[in-house]
Amino acid sequence: MLDRPRKILVTNALPYANGSIHMGHLVEYLQGNIWARFQKFRGHTCTYVCASDVHGTPVMLKARELGITPEVLTAEITKEFLKDFSAFGIEFDNYYTTHSPENEALVIEMFQALSKTGDIYTKTIEQAFDEKEGLFLPDRFLRGTCPRCKSEDQYGDACEVCGATYTPADLIDPISVLSGTKPVTRKSEHYFFKLSKYEKRLRDWIDEADLEKSVVAKLEEWFDAGLRDWDISRDAPYFGFRIPGTDDKYFYVWLDAPIGYAASFKNLCDRRDDLDFDEYWRPGHDTELYHFIGKDIMYFHMLFWPAVLQGSGFRTPTSVFSHGFLTVNGQKMSKSRGTFINARTYLNNLHPAYLRYYYAAKLGPTIEDINLNLDDFIAKVNADLIGKLINIASRCAGFINKRFDDKLADALPEPDLFNALADASEEIAAHYERREYSKAMRRIMGLADDANRYIDREKPWVMIKDENQLAEVQAVCTQGLNLFRSLMIYLTPVIPSVADDARSFFGEDEWHWYCASKPLLGTRILKFKPLLTRIEPAQVDNMVEQSKRSAKDIFLPSAEDGAEPGMRIK
Ligand code: 2FM
Ligand code: ZN
Repeated sequence: MLDRPRKILVTNALPYANGSIHMGHLVEYLQGNIWARFQKFRGHTCTYVCASDVHGTPVMLKARELGITPEVLTAEITKEFLKDFSAFGIEFDNYYTTHSPENEALVIEMFQALSKTGDIYTKTIEQAFDEKEGLFLPDRFLRGTCPRCKSEDQYGDACEVCGATYTPADLIDPISVLSGTKPVTRKSEHYFFKLSKYEKRLRDWIDEADLEKSVVAKLEEWFDAGLRDWDISRDAPYFGFRIPGTDDKYFYVWLDAPIGYAASFKNLCDRRDDLDFDEYWRPGHDTELYHFIGKDIMYFHMLFWPAVLQGSGFRTPTSVFSHGFLTVNGQKMSKSRGTFINARTYLNNLHPAYLRYYYAAKLGPTIEDINLNLDDFIAKVNADLIGKLINIASRCAGFINKRFDDKLADALPEPDLFNALADASEEIAAHYERREYSKAMRRIMGLADDANRYIDREKPWVMIKDENQLAEVQAVCTQGLNLFRSLMIYLTPVIPSVADDARSFFGEDEWHWYCASKPLLGTRILKFKPLLTRIEPAQVDNMVEQSKRSAKDIFLPSAEDGAEPGMRIK
């Protein structure tokens, strides 16, 4: 069926384990999940891995505040992540943690390889230190007056009022957000990675990775500004991996997080005979590696990460796919407006398929932000999924169930109509492949319109009154149901649980992408039950009200977190 079966490894950005999954995260996980499902459904060998990103100061402090260990905290949060992911149909082949022996071994291997080639050096730097807490302060744990516009209470690295970025040393009257005390400046030796050496090789990789235009433009800005060497160490106390040969230096979480992709895969390989770590992670193999990420972490994935891989004898990603931020009702998610919606709050009110479809209908391959307008969400899901798609089956199934003893006809009355739908297969597949989900959804819904028009024209509900036209009713309804079936097959990567129910309704054990091109004839179907119902506005209102009340959100959304796309710090 396929010209060339591919071996593909797909990752989603590793969620930081100090809060809950929310609607912003879900853009990312659903985009990656739809793509991984699509590749599998097309018959490729596609492995989809993820893990919790658990190291760093925020997790360490959160655990301290709760009086538990970071291991316990992140294990609890991981349990929650997995419940949410699974409810949304986001099923990874492996979900692991960055605090693992596999990850530590890989981090050390890469660090030692880079040290050998002279790409790691140490340098003493000055940093803000909180004497009361006994801790060097990450930039985000400092507040003070912006050196440019003089606005008070700004972060240590960027001003939210005038947009300036600066170093904490420039901040006027800095205060530690942990203790409220004035930090002192302290010296410490840090390890640096010579990113500056990699410009040429990174440019080559960027060409090969065929990155999207706006992404390349962003990378060019960074090249123009000059690649600065990267500080990959942090001082104790720190939750992370200790740097070999030191007592009190740890690898910066942003070094070990992406290595966590490889570690999660390694962990899976150790349980699976059919997967070979080297085939996916060492150069020279015919495998593909893709990372799905948000645009706020492009710097890490398109500069640091490929450089670290190149320098340490690993393969580089085939490509990195970035998406934009989520706005809700045209604005940043906001707790007071009830638009900072956690995955769990959504699930308590609404079927996951609605959101999977809605995001797919909005998503393209660019880093443009996407907007979840809640009124549009209700209108679009009801119009497309219920009004167009499910409606095809509702209009035909009853006749087959009641009048033809559940049996489909042996032939299609208008094969051209079915063939037109089958012929769209490769076009729709190409849209998925290029992450043009919105185009795929539009094409599929256009075909659903054709199917509905056909039923409108044939009017089985009129023909059924005439005994002489019964065979025709059976044929028309068989045709309608087959059109519905093919559309459901095309939508399987997007709404897998609904597609599964549809498949069972047709009495089939398995569907593959190519099944959409072959009609189902002469077999018995099950009794039809509506596969999805309309969204009632009250469900959305409840979700918003519950989100206003939930005080539990401790994770800042990407959109509120980064000073500039690509530069998220933790
Ligand atoms: O931005 C974040 O939330 C990070 N936890 C993403 C890490 S992705 C990869 F590098 F691990
Ligand atoms: Zn300012």
